[in-house]
Amino acid sequence: MKITVVGAGYVGLVTAACLAELGHQVTNVDHDDDRIRALQAGGMPIFEPGLDVVVARNHAAGRLSFSAWLPSAMRDTQVVFIAVGTPPVEDGAADLQHVLKVARQIAGQLRDFTVVVNKSTVPVGTAARVEAEMRAVITSQGRERQAFAVVSNPEFLKEGSAIEDFMRPDRIVIGVPQTPEGGRAREIMSRLYAPFNRHHDRTIWMDVASAELTKYAANAMLATRISFMNEMANLADQLGADIDAVRRGIGADSRIGHGFLYAGTGYGGSCFPKDTRALIQTAARLGLAMQVVAATERVNMAQKSALVRHVVDLFGNALEGLRFAVWGLAFKPNTDDMRDAPSRVAIAELLKRGAQVVAYDPVAMRAAHAPLAGDLDQATDSLNRLHFADDPYDALNDADALLVVTEWKCFQNPDFDALVRRMRQPIIIDGRNIYDPAQLYDNGIVYRGIGRRNRLTRTDRPIAHTARSAAGTVPHAPLSAGIAASA
Ligand SMILES: NC(=O)c1ccc[n+]([C@@H]2O[C@H](COP(=O)([O-])OP(=O)(O)OC[C@H]3O[C@@H](n4cnc5c(N)ncnc54)[C@H](O)[C@@H]3O)[C@@H](O)[C@H]2O)c1
Repeated sequence: MKITVVGAGYVGLVTAACLAELGHQVTNVDHDDDRIRALQAGGMPIFEPGLDVVVARNHAAGRLSFSAWLPSAMRDTQVVFIAVGTPPVEDGAADLQHVLKVARQIAGQLRDFTVVVNKSTVPVGTAARVEAEMRAVITSQGRERQAFAVVSNPEFLKEGSAIEDFMRPDRIVIGVPQTPEGGRAREIMSRLYAPFNRHHDRTIWMDVASAELTKYAANAMLATRISFMNEMANLADQLGADIDAVRRGIGADSRIGHGFLYAGTGYGGSCFPKDTRALIQTAARLGLAMQVVAATERVNMAQKSALVRHVVDLFGNALEGLRFAVWGLAFKPNTDDMRDAPSRVAIAELLKRGAQVVAYDPVAMRAAHAPLAGDLDQATDSLNRLHFADDPYDALNDADALLVVTEWKCFQNPDFDALVRRMRQPIIIDGRNIYDPAQLYDNGIVYRGIGRRNRLTRTDRPIAHTARSAAGTVPHAPLSAGIAASA
């Protein structure tokens, strides 16, 4: 089948590469010329494990091509995916300008019957808006008889395991209009996704509005589980209970299950924060309050400061002369995505209190520069105190505490002796509960986790509130220098 995928980001590029892998002829379109040039030259604009290999294989085989020019990509296409960004506008609602613009561009190119697939996460009613915008363009061109169908096929892949998720989906949700065109679209979409349904049929057919809402409901449910556990963790701290034991205790209930029950320093990324806000806005426009989802969002905002609350508890509010190592910048492991990453809140709050910060992330450091500088309003004073290390242990030199923000595998089993030797004070604030508090205590490390009986943690070593000499050299250029160099 000849397919066009518009948007070459985390979703569009994965969709294009995976459909090419299934033997389809795919053109991936993006309006970002640099991105397209990089892809044409064999580069990767994003980090996603395994994606480079699938892209290279299909590009070399001639099944996957890249273009910044939609009209040529649309020639003979049977199915067009819209996979462009839907970032939040000021009030949290999804910004549909990119989706609608692409819809109008597609309409201008339609010749034969074409299925237009909304893969971007969009509020209920968007498929109808896309269809109306397309119909207006087609009518203005005097081609009223041009047939097409707009279907909703929300994407459920997870960054970090996107290829696996796309190739082995739990389910494929497709909303089709109850019209003759919708019937034709269903037949084409069935053929397109047939390879995924050989073992058993994973496709769940429904009406368009239900498909659009399913995506938001799924993300809101997952976000709610996380906020619920974070709220429970904060209570556990005060009660002297361990949230990890509670997690195992409730996860064993088959009605609850083990997934998505980890307490931590809040959810981030490009989906949960924006999709929960958009859902709240959608309801508000109808005069409804999404009270559970709104609470989920509020708990998450507060939880992003959990690590800094521990810092303030240990060191006080003024952090001048203190140095903090930060392990992990990406919003979760196996991605370089910095959108709404909890690390951004922790770093900005430490810098605003006068601290030095030395950060390390295995893949997201380059992607982190611009968002971190933006969070700090490009303030040179703060940026001068933010450094990046080439190695996780280098980040620890003369640190007064280590904050673990992202649970990358490479942080799971550090050499605690080396860590203690390098740090000025052996204190770990574990935002993902990846360490065993007892083991750390045996290593002479002061441990703070999320909901792990922190009030009862024995602290033999005094916290050096006075270690403010800012001694020790930081071997890496501060972020402000990096920005100046790359400007
Ligand atoms: N990232 C995820 O994990 C994920 C998962 C499921 C669903 N989604 C949804 O999928 C959509 C895309 O998300 P993403 O993470 O891939 O975004 P992204 O920002 O990584 O990629 C979007 C791409 O669209 C391109 N684009 C924007 N406007 C365009 C236009 N007019 N013409 C051509 N290209 C255009 C951008 O240049 C960019 O490359 C969003 O609605 C998101 O909510 C994302």
